[in-house]
Amino acid sequence: MKIILLGPPGAGKGTIAKALMQHDESVQISTGDILRGAVAAGTELGKQAEAAMTAGDLVTDELIMGIMEERLQQDDCQQGYLLDGFPRTIPQAEALKALLSKLDERLDCVLELDIPRDIIIDRLTTRRTCTNCGEIYNVKFKPPRAEGICDVCGNEIVQRDDETEEAIENRLQVYNEQTAPLVEFYRNEGLLVSVPTSDLEPVMDALKSRI
Ligand code: AP5
Repeated sequence: MKIILLGPPGAGKGTIAKALMQHDESVQISTGDILRGAVAAGTELGKQAEAAMTAGDLVTDELIMGIMEERLQQDDCQQGYLLDGFPRTIPQAEALKALLSKLDERLDCVLELDIPRDIIIDRLTTRRTCTNCGEIYNVKFKPPRAEGICDVCGNEIVQRDDETEEAIENRLQVYNEQTAPLVEFYRNEGLLVSVPTSDLEPVMDALKSRI
């Protein structure tokens, strides 16, 4: 499967990507995870991205395309991939289209997680993430077995830096302005599959009807 996961912050893109990977050879490619890793490692990429990420703004298209052009040509992508958080602007979608055409590859579909705003805010304010392996938790919907400790690797789980009320508001506004137009873009490409949930079973059903 070569799938784009599209949806606002907190829609469940990372959660559903991890669940789908249990059923498929595809790899999850999360631009958010790549950037957070770069910030934590203090690399040049991380330094360039950090301020925008903390404020809930997007980093530049040039920076993202530099990462993704290299990443999508790595060997593990031959098995398929789940793009989580990319593309996020029309220029990124156009650049991806040109890259795939150059590589003679095509997407299977774009899965839109169309989740209402009140549910998203509830999920984001209660999410916790492992500082080491990136496993996603939720104090209400998916708590870890021991408070504050990752079930998978035993490291600390925390709230992300972009989970302040102000940054969440900004991320939602940025999504509406810069990313939501991709729904129409991919509908016109004949690739859009929209589901009003991020629960695995209905998502799998929607994908089966398509792939
Ligand atoms: P990124 O990491 O991509 O953040 P995001 O898109 O805002 O998405 P999130 O990770 O917040 O949410 P999600 O949809 O993955 O939801 P999750 O599965 O965690 O990007 C971060 C930043 O990096 C951006 O702001 C930007 O600065 C930069 N960036 C990244 N990509 C970029 C790009 N292409 N261009 C420019 N800049 C870029 O779920 C949320 C919570 O809900 C969890 O607690 C989970 O347990 C819970 N949950 C999920 N599903 C369910 C369910 N079905 N029922 C109950 N709870 C659920």
